[in-house]
Parts: sequence; structure tokens; C-alpha cells
Amino acid sequence: MADNKEVDQISGTETTGHEWDGIKELNTPLPRWWLWTFYATCLWALAYWIVMPAWPLISSHTTGLIGYSSRAQLAKSVAEAREAQGAFLDRIEAASLEQIVADQELLEFAMAGGGSAFAVNCSQCHGSGAAGFVGYPNLNDDDWIWGGDLEAISHTIHFGIRSDHDETRFNEMPAYGRDELLTPEEINDVAEYVLSLSGSGEDAAAAARGEVTFAEQCSACHMESGEGDYELGAPNLTDAIWLYGGDKAAVVDTIANSRAGMMPAWTGRLDEATIKQLAIYVHSLGGGE
Ligand code: HEC
Ligand code: HEC
Repeated sequence: MADNKEVDQISGTETTGHEWDGIKELNTPLPRWWLWTFYATCLWALAYWIVMPAWPLISSHTTGLIGYSSRAQLAKSVAEAREAQGAFLDRIEAASLEQIVADQELLEFAMAGGGSAFAVNCSQCHGSGAAGFVGYPNLNDDDWIWGGDLEAISHTIHFGIRSDHDETRFNEMPAYGRDELLTPEEINDVAEYVLSLSGSGEDAAAAARGEVTFAEQCSACHMESGEGDYELGAPNLTDAIWLYGGDKAAVVDTIANSRAGMMPAWTGRLDEATIKQLAIYVHSLGGGE
């Protein structure tokens, strides 16, 4: 092949000696600019290997002359952010909830901090927008089980509900069906009465019978009016907002088998400044009292 090399008559360029059906391949030299760029990138790569961390070793890597590390860089910016926040966190720690809310600067800081702590610790159960799921209350509305002022919310977050903390919020609704405290007919009637409280019952005669049972069995916790009680964590049954669903089957199931929602205690798990920011954040979501 090499012997076939010849100079092309028209372009004056040497051919490679390859020929297909009379068409010959020119051996045009690479353009200067391309070659120089190529050499420059080679030099750049060499310099980079020497200056920056580059080659993997068995259990580490070459660190390079300037010892750059993105991990160290990150640790540094985190430490800087901590320091910048430190002054705020100290003030939040020292202030009462009311004082924080009254101070625009602290309030903004607490709202941002509370929002991100909520996303990390609370959104699994309450939803990322805090709208809740069946059994996990919506924290955006003004319907509270255990109270919606700053103090009550803070208490709930600190100690939890039916949690393993000694000071947990606690109350137990009896399982009227499972423990045979009421007959299925009585449960049906009192369920009709509960539904009628929010205007959704269908059987007025049953509801009238259920009203008697309600006064005897349920009003101790849910109050005579059915509006519930924060101290006892007994939900308001008159507002058409349901933790466990407001169709007949769900209400019958609640009365027959009871419910016992569980929320963990956060004191000890989160620091005091974080719990304060969370209480302020939750309080601000729409229904704070
Ligand atoms: C493991 C699930 C779970 C996690 C995580 C959780 N909660 Fe709850 N939370 C619940 C349940 C369940 C209830 C309702 C308990 C009941 O039935 O009384 C509740 C109730 C509440 C209440 C009381 C609502 C009311 O109406 O009185 C507040 C306030 C609250 N949670 C805030 C938070 C905050 C803030 C966090 C994050 C630090 C959090 N929760 C994390 C499950 C959870
Ligand atoms: C000892 C107190 C107590 C008594 C008595 C009691 N309850 Fe309850 N009830 C509760 C508590 C506490 C809850 C909330 C459970 C939870 O949050 O997991 C509840 C929840 C409910 C719910 C669910 C509300 C919702 O939003 O989904 C209904 C319905 C209900 N009760 C009806 C009744 C009826 C009817 C009776 C009487 C037959 C009764 N309760 C008696 C304490 C009580």
C-alpha cells in the first residue's frame, strides 16, 4: 500500500495510497490551529493532574499540589452558615414564643428554620404541605384536637401524643363494639347522631335514639354539644372535619374499635431552638389560635 503513495495532480497533496473505484484518498495534513489546540489540551491535562486531585489510588487519590477538596470546602461553608445563624439561634433560645413572634427579624428566621425542620421531621406523617392524611391531622386548618395556641402546639411537639414520653398527651376512647359496651344497634344509632351533628345524617329516628346514648357515653370526652375538648384530645364532632373519615362506615368503625393516633415526642430528639421554630411555623400555617 505504502508503495502506492503518490502526489495528487490537482491539489498537490500526497495521497494515502487507498483507492476505491478510482477515487483516491488525500492525506491532507491536520490544520495548524487544530494541532495547537490539541497540544494545549494535553498540557492542560498534565498541569491539572499535578495541581488538582486527580488519580485514584488503592484507598485514596492523588491530592494535587494545592490540596483542593470539595468536601473541605463544603464543611467550611456549613461552618460559616452555622456561625451566621448562631446569633439568631441564641436569641431564639433565649426568647419566649410570644417574643419571637413579636420580633419581625426573629419571626422570619424561625419561619424558615421551622419550615425546613418540618420538611425533614414531620412531613412523612403530616404531608409536605401539612395537609395530613387519614389518621394524621391537617395542621393548616383551625380544627385542633389538642389545642392550637403557641403553647399547646409547643407542648404537643415536645411530648407527643400517646408517645413513650412520661408527659405525653394521652386519652383513650373506649372500643364500644369490640369490648361490647354497646350493641351494634346502639352503635348504629349513635353514629347517626354523630353524623347529624355536622348535618350529614340520614336517619333522623336513629339519630334521636343515638342522642341519648351520646349523652350517657360520649359527652364526658366529646362534651354535651359534641364540640370536643382540647384537654382530653377529643375531636370536635360537629364540624365536618374528620380525622378518620366522615362516612357512616368510618364513624361506625371508630365507635366500635376506637382510635389511638400516635405522634412521637420530639424533646431530646430536636433541640429547644428547633422545637420553638417548629411551633411557630405550625402555628402560622393558617389555624393558629
Ligand atoms: C409518626 C407520625 C408523625 C410524625 C413524624 C409527626 N406527627 Fe404530628 N401527629 C401525628 C398524629 C397521628 C397526630 C394525631 C394524634 C391524635 O390522634 O391525637 C399528630 C398530631 C400533631 C399535632 C396536634 C394537632 C392537633 O390538632 O392538636 C401537632 C401540632 C403536630 N402533630 C405537629 C407535628 C410536628 C411539628 C412534627 C414534626 C416535628 C410532627 N407532628 C411529626 C403523627 C406524627
Ligand atoms: C374517654 C374519652 C372518650 C369517650 C368516652 C369517647 N370518645 Fe370519641 N374520641 C376520643 C378521642 C381521644 C378521640 C381521638 C382519637 C385519636 O385522635 O386517635 C376520639 C375520636 C372520635 C371520633 C373520630 C373523629 C374524627 O375526626 O375522625 C368519633 C367519631 C368519636 N370519637 C365518637 C365517639 C362516640 C360516638 C362516643 C360515644 C359512644 C365517643 N366517641 C366516646 C375520646 C373519647
